[in-house]
Amino acid sequence: MDPGGIIPHMTILRHNAPMSKTNNTDLPIGIFDSGVGGLTVLKAIRTELPKEDLVYLGDTARLPYGTKSPISIERYATQATAKLQEQGIKLLVVACNTASAVALDALQQQMSPLPVIGVVDPGATAAVKARAGGSHLVLATEATVRLRAYHEAILSRDPGAIVREQACEMLVSLAEEGWTDGDIAERIIRRYLEEASDDGFTPDSIILGCTHFPLLKDAIRAVAVDEVTLVDSASTTAAFVRETLEADGACHRSDTAGSLRFLATDGATRFARVGGHFLGEALAPDDVELVDL
Ligand code: DGL
Repeated sequence: MDPGGIIPHMTILRHNAPMSKTNNTDLPIGIFDSGVGGLTVLKAIRTELPKEDLVYLGDTARLPYGTKSPISIERYATQATAKLQEQGIKLLVVACNTASAVALDALQQQMSPLPVIGVVDPGATAAVKARAGGSHLVLATEATVRLRAYHEAILSRDPGAIVREQACEMLVSLAEEGWTDGDIAERIIRRYLEEASDDGFTPDSIILGCTHFPLLKDAIRAVAVDEVTLVDSASTTAAFVRETLEADGACHRSDTAGSLRFLATDGATRFARVGGHFLGEALAPDDVELVDL
């Protein structure tokens, strides 16, 4: 149990859970991110599926992924997935936009026949739903932008849409540092938005195409034009996870709240401190188990 009682309805498991048979509905959902940003996705899944056990792996030793080459990102993502497979999971959520953009196909092969859900497709679905035929500005990491992942995902759903992508690496650091509002955050955001719109481009929607950017929502809203819709993929991803489990008859049949388990590749104290901002609840270093990939 959480020692401070801060997470009252969840059991936090600190040690290796027994390995169970694959495709067992009682197995946890595995959630993987390069760091703690994916905890925003975990939070949405927990709201959508409160009875599911969740095991989260943050590859904090190798964060950030967004500035790395596709070869390294795919290698890191397959190693992280292997670690979650070792724990026994029934479905993998790739909560990291960068890993989703680069390595989703490789991870789907690795997990086959079990399902793998990334965040780019749900984000594109949410954007098209919010503004069909609209113009979208995707804020993401360098690697996600380089691969034009959102561009393709949106146009495949809505060929009339206009998509522009802007790499915003510094926003990752701002969110990690907890500088998510006020003058510094707003000036940096303004600089990125101006860079994306220097030819007069005015988006109908801004897609938060990085795990860290939901924390900067208020600052982005303060800088962007009033009419713009902010699109966050976390809740759409969580809904998609529920639909997938339901379709596969793989929902947990328990009546009690699910457990949470946190794995990280480095820095339990930092994971707990920074992760608490993303989760919206305090975490203790003892809640985080360090693993090697
Ligand atoms: N998790 C990454 C993403 O969503 C952001 C942090 C990183 O670059 O690793 O793209």
